[in-house]
Amino acid sequence: MQKDTVTIINNRTNEKFEYPILDGTVGPSVVDISTFYQDTGMFTFDRGYTSTASCRSKITYIDGGKGQLMYRGYDISYLAKNRTFLDTAYLLLNKTLPSKEELEDFSIEMKKRSFIRESMKKLFDAFPDNAHPMAILSASVSALSTFYFEHLDIDKPNEYMEMAKRIIAKMPTIAAFAHRYSQGLPIIYPDLGRGFTENFLYMLRGYPHRHIDLKPIEIKALDTIFTLHADHEQNASTTTVRNVGSTHAHPYAAISAGIGALWGRAHGGANESVIRQLEMIGSVDRVDEFIKRAKDKDDPFRLMGFGHRVYKNFDPRAKILKEIRDKLMEEGIGVNSELVKVANKIEKIALSDEYFISRKLYPNVDFHSGLILQALKIPKEMFAVIFVIGRTPGWVAQWIELQEQPTIKIARPRQLYVGPVDRTPKDD
Ligand code: ACO
Repeated sequence: MQKDTVTIINNRTNEKFEYPILDGTVGPSVVDISTFYQDTGMFTFDRGYTSTASCRSKITYIDGGKGQLMYRGYDISYLAKNRTFLDTAYLLLNKTLPSKEELEDFSIEMKKRSFIRESMKKLFDAFPDNAHPMAILSASVSALSTFYFEHLDIDKPNEYMEMAKRIIAKMPTIAAFAHRYSQGLPIIYPDLGRGFTENFLYMLRGYPHRHIDLKPIEIKALDTIFTLHADHEQNASTTTVRNVGSTHAHPYAAISAGIGALWGRAHGGANESVIRQLEMIGSVDRVDEFIKRAKDKDDPFRLMGFGHRVYKNFDPRAKILKEIRDKLMEEGIGVNSELVKVANKIEKIALSDEYFISRKLYPNVDFHSGLILQALKIPKEMFAVIFVIGRTPGWVAQWIELQEQPTIKIARPRQLYVGPVDRTPKDD
């Protein structure tokens, strides 16, 4: 059978080149240009990789047009509504959802592995007061590789799962410690009697020897945020994890680099920016002024938490979080602040204003997650950290998928050089 191909004609030389079209299970087909440079002596140019598929993957599928997100073939709304974050983490690692018994075992293992070495606490002491928790997190995860350096042996696939479970279990503890140390607060150790997400909230908000009342809806809200962030195919931080992984670096070094990528406000920092912007607007009577600025072509101001590069009709994660926000409100959690009133007014205007409707600028996942985390009394500096806890299973699943390929190709793009040449003095 004749294979489908794309023909490229170089009209400088009239040469013709054919490249095979590859099909996935769903989604756009790809043109395999692996031999393009060899054939033509030219590179392809794709700033920001907007038209480039960098790998084959069986983990996550996104259809931005339909507003669809699937992990291992399961729709995100099924997982968020009917399953927990631990089910989702298990699914990403094991390619299948756990049975009741498997989930029980996984949960026990997560609890047992949630502690960090006591000696690692000295590391937290070394950071200055008010250090950003993302910086502490990135450094601590990198430091974790010094305790578990055996994973450098990437020829031992049976160690992958161990590595994965260890980092997923320890991330909330490191994250909570990062917050407590940055605020000069006493650290709270994991409580083996609590589930994964409840335990994190307890370590974050608790005080020694004091009962803490965590409402089931608060735990469900945070667990849903974790689930919705568990993977998002080849986004900037996952690509970073894969790039570092392609050099055969330690997996925790790759994850630490992923944390660095996620820190930026164009990625994991977006929900923190939503809250900062709402605080900057400050009161409902200033909303119109900022909506006007957002619509002004000559003003660089943008409404944070609106629009998405991939989801052009709706973001399925935002839809789920909107329901969670409404449930929190019904229970009187995070309702009465001026900030929420400002947010509600902006949302109402944006959903009815022609400018936002015609450009498909709906509230995105960060708009709702920022407001939910604010309602859960989680400080803004911790928002990206929460994203990291959620994304860790995705990163490790992607790292494992990379390692399990027959051969790993180092990620090494080329460039279009536009700088000076021949500047070296000839007679020196
Ligand atoms: N406020 C006002 N206008 C906007 C906004 C916004 N938030 N977002 C896009 N627009 C306008 C643009 O000015 C442009 O208008 P024009 O057609 O008249 O020139 C049009 O909508 C299209 O915008 P693009 O920048 O081309 O859209 P793109 O898909 O490249 O950008 C992005 C998506 C970066 C998310 C953008 O919508 C944005 O900056 N949003 C605010 C930041 C934000 O919320 N980021 C989090 C994204 S979610 C995530 O990362 C998990």
